Amino acid sequence: ALVTDRPQDLAGRHVVVSAGGTREPIDPVRFLGNRSSGRQGVALARTAYARGARVTLVAANIDVPVPAGADVVRAETGAELRDAVRAAAKDADVVVMAAAVADFRPRTSAESKIKKVAGGAGPVLELVETVDILAELAHERLRADQVVVGFAAETGDDTGSVLEHGRAKALRKGADLLVVNAVGGGRGFGTEANDVTILDGSGAVVGTAAGSKDEVADAVWDAVVERV
Ligand code: CTP
Ligand code: CA
Repeated sequence: ALVTDRPQDLAGRHVVVSAGGTREPIDPVRFLGNRSSGRQGVALARTAYARGARVTLVAANIDVPVPAGADVVRAETGAELRDAVRAAAKDADVVVMAAAVADFRPRTSAESKIKKVAGGAGPVLELVETVDILAELAHERLRADQVVVGFAAETGDDTGSVLEHGRAKALRKGADLLVVNAVGGGRGFGTEANDVTILDGSGAVVGTAAGSKDEVADAVWDAVVERV
C-alpha cells in the first residue's frame, strides 16, 4: 500500500521502536553479536510514521537504511540501548522492543587487543546477564498509559510449540503485547517475510500476520491502536 493510503490512527502519538542487534565488546576489535538485520524494527518505524506518529528509532547496528521521518538514536551495546530507550520512553505512548538484545555480555572488556599465545590454551570468556529492557519497562511503567510491546523469535522443541513458548514468555515479560515470530525453515532472521502471532499480556491471541515485514508492522500497529 502507498504511504498515503494508511489511516492516520497514530497521529499525535509518540512511538519508540528499538531495532537491530546489540554488540557486547570483548576487546577493542571484537564483540559478541547476533544476526538481527533491523528490518522488522525499521518497518515498524516507517509504518508508524506513515500512520501519523512521531517516531523515535533506537537503532543498534542495523544493516538497512533508516526510514525517512524518524528521529534516529544510535546504540551499540545493550546498556546503551537501554539508556536510549528509557530516555525516549519517558514521553512515549508506545514502546516496541524489536531489537535483539544480548542476554549475556562479557563480564569485562579488555583494554587492548587479546593476543594469541602460540600453542597456548584459548581465552575463556566469563559472561554475565544483561538487564531485560522489555521486562523492566513493562514492570516499572515509566508512563501509566504506555503500551509496551515485545517481540519473541521462537522455535518449537520437545518442551513446547512456538505458541506455547510464546504464551509463557508473554506472561513472564508483563508486556501488553508480544509478537511471536516462528523462526527456522527460512523464516525470521535476515529474511524478507515473517509469520507472526500477536499475543496480549495474558497470552491470548489478538492478531496474526504473514507476509512482508511492513504487513507484520501494520498488524502490530492495528493491535496497538486498540490499546492506546
Ligand atoms: N529483550 C530486552 N532485553 C534483553 C533481552 C530481550 O528488552 N536483555 C526483549 C527483546 O527486545 C524482545 C523480548 O525481550 O522484545 C523477547 O526477547 P527474547 O530473546 O525472545 O526473550 P528472552 O526473555 O531473552 O528469552 P530467551 O531465553 O528465549 O532468549
Ligand atoms: Ca534473549
